[in-house]
Amino acid sequence: MNIKIVPTTPFEGQRPGTSGLRKKVTVFEQPHYLENFVQSVFNSLEDFHGKTLVVGGDGRYFNRKAIQTIIKMAVANGFGELMIGKGGLLSTPATSCIIRKYQAFGGLILSASHNPGGPNADFGIKYNISNGGPAPEKVTEAIYANSQKIENYVIADTPDVDLDTIGEKILGETKIKIIDPVADYAEMMSKLFDFDLIKRLFQIGKFKMRYDAMNAVTGPYAKYILEGILKAPEGTVVNAVPKEDFGGLHPDPNLVYAHTLVEEMFSDNGPDFGAASDGDGDRNMILGHKFYVNPSDSLAVIVANFWNAPGYDRGLTGVARSMPTSQAVDRVARGMGMSCYETPTGWKFFGNLLDANKATICGEESFGTGSNHVREKDGLWAVLYWLNIIAATNMSVAEIVKAHWKKYGRNYYSRHDYEGVDSAIAHKIMDDMTARAESEIGKFYGDYEVETFDNFTYVDPVDKSVSKNQGVRVLFKDGSRIVFRLSGTGTQGATIRIYIEKYEPNVAKHDLDPQEALADLIEIAEEISGVKAKTGRKKPDVIT
Ligand code: G1P
Ligand code: ZN
Repeated sequence: MNIKIVPTTPFEGQRPGTSGLRKKVTVFEQPHYLENFVQSVFNSLEDFHGKTLVVGGDGRYFNRKAIQTIIKMAVANGFGELMIGKGGLLSTPATSCIIRKYQAFGGLILSASHNPGGPNADFGIKYNISNGGPAPEKVTEAIYANSQKIENYVIADTPDVDLDTIGEKILGETKIKIIDPVADYAEMMSKLFDFDLIKRLFQIGKFKMRYDAMNAVTGPYAKYILEGILKAPEGTVVNAVPKEDFGGLHPDPNLVYAHTLVEEMFSDNGPDFGAASDGDGDRNMILGHKFYVNPSDSLAVIVANFWNAPGYDRGLTGVARSMPTSQAVDRVARGMGMSCYETPTGWKFFGNLLDANKATICGEESFGTGSNHVREKDGLWAVLYWLNIIAATNMSVAEIVKAHWKKYGRNYYSRHDYEGVDSAIAHKIMDDMTARAESEIGKFYGDYEVETFDNFTYVDPVDKSVSKNQGVRVLFKDGSRIVFRLSGTGTQGATIRIYIEKYEPNVAKHDLDPQEALADLIEIAEEISGVKAKTGRKKPDVIT
């Protein structure tokens, strides 16, 4: 087979962000752009010759084309085997599952997660290491360094591979395997949860569920598991066929973008349980009838109910949450006498804790929950976990959450996002707060006294690596918090995220609208940061 060595020059900005390299499709479509990045990934790895690489994506526009390029480059670079999801599809958690199960060297995931897809929308690529998790910072920094000095890449001169037929073929010295994207993942789920119990829930016939796959990758997974194995009625899963542009949907499972589901769940005869996932299947939103479960609460409830799920009923070693995620899970961990780790935003920071068995379940406020079963967050996993809890307790979603608040108190929580902000202004807002951090300590905002004001630095408890500049934290004496950070996943301008949290132990005050309960802190957030004043915005673009 002819291997071409193609001369190239570096592109600026090929630095992986919170979750891989995300850019507009038009950026990826430039000649050599994808190739440079893929070669930079391979140049950052050692001893992969003859080993296995897993490749798949969320089916968005450019997915198939990118996979063909990756196949030819992986062959030219000497991988021994490629495992590729049929149709080029693999959800992010399924990729992680397959890397681990088949002890692959690593994987390339093609997705821009919850960002829209299509010729004018977003694309992304992420490298995962042999534990199945996102590459840690030392790897992503090496990739970036290589991308800035790349001079050529290698690619096999061979026709495109048929991605739609399960089977094997040999290209040069590389075995190309087209695999069923769902089977291994479904088998794993059946071991973690009590499928018989959940099946009974559907069999009785009273329980109604709606799962919105948002025309993204979880459609085939949810259809197979929920309707196929668990016998939920046909039609339980909607928008189940992955589309290149997600049918025009913005595949981000939150109250704004999954509004069709939300409207159905809040209608008088709405289903008992509703859920949605994002583009690549690692996020989840959980809803009850006329009830929204905040992701931070979902994490706390999942942890508190570990004994309901067969995969976890022997106990948890510990839990972890990203820094901006509410402290609801901390209370559960304290109650159960186990450690709760606080990490920077991004799933990659959970990898070491999971590998070292310091944490069993992890979560982020951004609709991400998961466990040590893989090394990614896992949307459908969270949905199945909730089904397991509902089936085991015979309670509704609202009853489960309210009982939880009664026991632990309620952490009112909300996130306000300002999208597409001028990048210089956004950075200045963060820099200004960081610069005056020390002088803020002890200051009063209304009745709230500032206890800690800093820019979060994380020291990994396992490998002692240090990650600085992870967001401005304002911690008040009463346990309330405001956190500010800039998104690391956007492709246009900057996104400022403000996270607001207040603890309410009094059960009589548990039924407020979070925006109302947090109103004074929301004002204080503006006083501290001046986001509205400095950006000229009147209100956030997205509130979750
Ligand atoms: C966002 C979320 C973060 C999540 C990431 C990838 O990152 O906030 O929790 O891990 O997407 O799904 P951000 O845009 O805030 O950097
Ligand atoms: Zn995602």
